[in-house]
Amino acid sequence: MLKVEDIGGELFISSDHEMKKEHYISFAAYVSDSSAMVFKQYPEWNLQVTLPLYRSGKLVWYCTKHGLFYQELRRIKK
Ligand SMILES: [Fe+2]
Repeated sequence: MLKVEDIGGELFISSDHEMKKEHYISFAAYVSDSSAMVFKQYPEWNLQVTLPLYRSGKLVWYCTKHGLFYQELRRIKK
């Protein structure tokens, strides 16, 4: 699961997943019923994405070893 935090009007997405050349998350994306935004990620850098404060939709991410995953973007409790 990716970590989702409300940082005051924006969503900060991060992960503890390893980010080595041979095993990393190569992209993370926000997908809703009407749009998608893809954020390329790079090995040797922590996964970090900042999104507007969406209330619904899915987060999708792709691990170079384990494939594609997704989770619902839920309303964040402060
Ligand atoms: Fe992985």
